[in-house]
Amino acid sequence: MASYDVIVIGSGPGGYVCAIRCAQLGLKTACVEGRDTLGGTCLNVGCIPSKALLHASHQLHEAEHNFAKMGLKGKAPSVDWKQMLTYKSEVIGQNTQGIEFLFKKNKIDWLKGWGSIPEAGKVKVGDEVHEAKNIIIASGSDVATLPGVEIDEKIVVSSTGALELPKIPKKMVVIGAGVIGLELGSVYSRLGTEVQVVEFLDTITPGMDAEVQRTFQKLLTKQGLSFTLGAAVQSVETNKNKAKVTYKLKKDDSEHTIDADVVLVSTGRKPYTDGLGLDALGVKMSPRGQIETDAHWATNVKGIYAIGDCIAGPMLAHKAEDEGMAVAEVVAGKHGHVNYDVIPGVIYTHPEVANVGKTEEQLKEEGRAYKAGKFSFMGNGRAKANFAADGFVKILADKTTDRILGAHIIGPMAGDLIHEICVAMEFGASAQDLALTCHAHPTYSEAVREAALACGDGPIHS
Ligand code: FAD
Ligand code: NAI
Repeated sequence: MASYDVIVIGSGPGGYVCAIRCAQLGLKTACVEGRDTLGGTCLNVGCIPSKALLHASHQLHEAEHNFAKMGLKGKAPSVDWKQMLTYKSEVIGQNTQGIEFLFKKNKIDWLKGWGSIPEAGKVKVGDEVHEAKNIIIASGSDVATLPGVEIDEKIVVSSTGALELPKIPKKMVVIGAGVIGLELGSVYSRLGTEVQVVEFLDTITPGMDAEVQRTFQKLLTKQGLSFTLGAAVQSVETNKNKAKVTYKLKKDDSEHTIDADVVLVSTGRKPYTDGLGLDALGVKMSPRGQIETDAHWATNVKGIYAIGDCIAGPMLAHKAEDEGMAVAEVVAGKHGHVNYDVIPGVIYTHPEVANVGKTEEQLKEEGRAYKAGKFSFMGNGRAKANFAADGFVKILADKTTDRILGAHIIGPMAGDLIHEICVAMEFGASAQDLALTCHAHPTYSEAVREAALACGDGPIHS
């Protein structure tokens, strides 16, 4: 039996970042992980592998669509799917081994196996029970299944199966037009698969700024994805190597079927807390299966904390990381803080989509007086040169104080551009503060400045 200041359960972005910060703050730390490699969902079957496939398939798209226009002639590359999967696996390996290195560097013990909490202050891994003054649960999330749909990870797949398909399918039905469906749908569409997305609601990417939703759907449709909205999937049947998806259109209750080689179920994720023994401990859970925590990530059981996908809030790696760092500060007796009003969201399609803060729809609902400054990438020289002029930047600011309340970007490098607005919001900046900041030319970031100018006397280039 070993004794620790902190034992973190789970080594995803929440858990591993938390463990490293705890060690940096001088706490004797261990991290329990049941997978063969560190890094959780994000590094093994989430953020990183999906971005590798998005990158590779985007390069193909560029070669097929834009190279010849720039005088780069020749046949577009053909796809060696096996090699693309090897590249993806190598990227995963580099990242997961990187965390192992960081654990060693920070003298964090990796307790290999599945952990449970037999009582407060104790963590059991295999046959060994370890003592811990503080236990931090970062056990993450798992795929949420649909009634009538059985995931076999061969024909009917979750994101995990979709990252490992033995071959590129001819036809794929994606259930759910959320982040996973659109990212992985884009990958296969670029590789030549006919992709049909079936979504329960009447818009794609629910909760996102409506103007962005419309532009996004239009651009993805232009790329070849098709959308069936307002459709409730009833069942998926499989027969040998084929699947049949049955859905009902909400507007007239009519029933339809689609045949597919692969069906991707991307209708959300749910907190994963199996096997931890939380019931017996009396840890309070929400009706949605999330561990309930207070403002300092403490559960109702003394000495037990929880962070990341297994608690409330957006299921995002950077949200989990921020909570990991903050709770480490708390258990070290310092002040940990996460500003939940400034957590960006990014969809890594092409173009990228990024948002932070309030949407126009939310501001209207709150009855708040605001102004919207918008600038199209059509007016941005760099975007035009790079065949990336689709999309816009929209900044929302308080009508009276000019303080930035939110931003919505669809366009090139949106996932990077959003951060200058995040920093501005953290500092309580006004749109004018952004507009008065010199931005290098020619960069995509000039579109952010122009949108800020559009909140005042007007942009220059439109
Ligand atoms: P996880 O990463 O889920 O890690 C939890 C870990 O805990 C797992 O490794 C699990 O094995 C381990 N564990 C659980 N229970 C136990 C136990 N009892 N004992 C030992 N170990 C245990 N987010 C983004 O921000 N950007 C993206 O681009 C992005 N892309 C994604 C793409 C896909 C396909 C998916 C599925 C998700 C993506 N996400 C993305 C979401 C992101 O992966 C999660 O928000 C993030 O991983 C949550 O981190 P976490 O530390 O809370 O949990
Ligand atoms: P999601 O919540 O983003 O989207 C699910 C979609 O499925 C919604 O549009 C919903 O209306 C729809 N849906 C639900 N039930 C349905 C039904 N019966 N029939 C048809 N449509 C239905 O969930 P998703 O895409 O599975 O992603 C899970 C989580 O992973 C998200 O919370 C996201 O934050 C995270 N993630 C983040 C990424 C990023 O930050 N780039 C990338 C991938 C995942």
